[in-house]
Amino acid sequence: MAMTAQLKLDDKEYSLPVIVGTEGEKALDTRKLRADTGYIAYDQGYGNTGSCESAITYLDGENGILRHRGYPIEQLAQHSNFVETAYLVIYGELPTVEQRKVFSGRLRQHAAIEPQMQAIFQGYPKDAPPMAMLSSIVASLAAHYPQLATNDFEKDLANFDLAAAMAISKIRTIGAMLYRYQNGLPYVPPKDIPFCDNLLHMMFSELYQDYVVAPEVTRALNTLLLLHADHEQNCSTSTVRMVGSSAANLFTSLSAGICALSGPLHGGANTAVMHMLQSIHDEHDDGTRFIAAAKSGSKSSRLMGFGHAVYKNFDPRAKIIGQACDDVLTKLGINDPLLAIAKNLEQAALKDDYFLSRKLYPNVDFYSGIIMRALGIPVNMFTIIFAIGRAPGWIANWREVAANPKGRIYRPRQVYAGPVKRDYRPIAQRG
Ligand code: SDX
Repeated sequence: MAMTAQLKLDDKEYSLPVIVGTEGEKALDTRKLRADTGYIAYDQGYGNTGSCESAITYLDGENGILRHRGYPIEQLAQHSNFVETAYLVIYGELPTVEQRKVFSGRLRQHAAIEPQMQAIFQGYPKDAPPMAMLSSIVASLAAHYPQLATNDFEKDLANFDLAAAMAISKIRTIGAMLYRYQNGLPYVPPKDIPFCDNLLHMMFSELYQDYVVAPEVTRALNTLLLLHADHEQNCSTSTVRMVGSSAANLFTSLSAGICALSGPLHGGANTAVMHMLQSIHDEHDDGTRFIAAAKSGSKSSRLMGFGHAVYKNFDPRAKIIGQACDDVLTKLGINDPLLAIAKNLEQAALKDDYFLSRKLYPNVDFYSGIIMRALGIPVNMFTIIFAIGRAPGWIANWREVAANPKGRIYRPRQVYAGPVKRDYRPIAQRG
């Protein structure tokens, strides 16, 4: 017997169907609420509202659980790598040897950025915000590959495999090119080498003759990108679904996701964490003064990298990144004072009732910046790295929207809070 919820409104009783997910999550199906009752549900920021049924990622914020297509993030971080996890997130299964060979081959085949697209970079100031450049240059992929970006779901899905591989590979290359452009270095073309090695090669090979990537560096970058691959209906992923629901092509929808990710409350937090740690270090604070300020509740003095809209327990990714941080700094023989400050902040906050009572724990951004700094990645590139990692999740969600035969354009309602009806007055009568 299907579950229902009873709603009593204006002396009438309504029965709302209940949807139960494969992990036992329950939702009130309010799709007919307005038609049946004249009421809408109100949920500012959609924190209690499901916009879709999705089979990609399961997240249990209370218990700190994160799984991609059923596989726990801890197992993927230990046994998989970014390219394999990207395939899993997009196609729903871990690839066979042949599938992985084809997917990896496409990523390598489409890694380069054609000269006509390279010319776009010259139109930007050298100090332009990297995420602003990334979003606009990714949007231009639709102009350069119109056959993959027809804004017709059926045609775009028919070319999805190629468009998806191109998007993942070229977002990575554009990211590397941004670094070189902003540092006055020439574009380094990709080599026929693994995904993460290629990113580091295209960013840093000028600095090191025959740049050889240390295996622990590649491993750390793989883990970092893998941990960012998807994260349920976060702000940027919901943006990609929203834009994709209008039948906008994959590249255009990804560009919108990049714009959403650029905000400091979302993907920009890893950058904000490093600025926070650096300022604590420069003020010769061990974090004590900063923690006191962070408890003031003002948005401007928040403990960046702490708290999460969904996790009210440890972000499982933060635990994995924290461990990877220790490993890679030890292996590289790096003694970063910011790591010590981060650990002080974490230990102090996890004993402080202000944070515990609000269930504020370290999130994915708290330690990720320290790893990226150890790999030589500058702070203004941190959110670019996040975007490179998140591309598979955005792509998988766009595909769910495009392939949904019952899908419809996203069009939330509102509660109007403006002036009631009033008549126009000529300017002479406005005082
Ligand atoms: C990401 O959604 C995703 O999945 C995102 C992400 C992904 O992979 O896509 O996980 C990536 O965006 C991680 C989050 C990165 N952002 C930060 O680290 C920025 C710092 N964190 C906060 O701004 C905040 O915690 C949010 C935005 C992440 C979540 O905000 P919520 O859940 O809406 O919490 P809130 O703003 O309603 O605050 C609740 C209370 C408030 O205090 P009171 O009004 O109850 O007194 O907690 C306080 C807030 O002042 N609070 C903090 C705090 N975060 C919340 N106080 C100090 N430091 C903080 N970081």
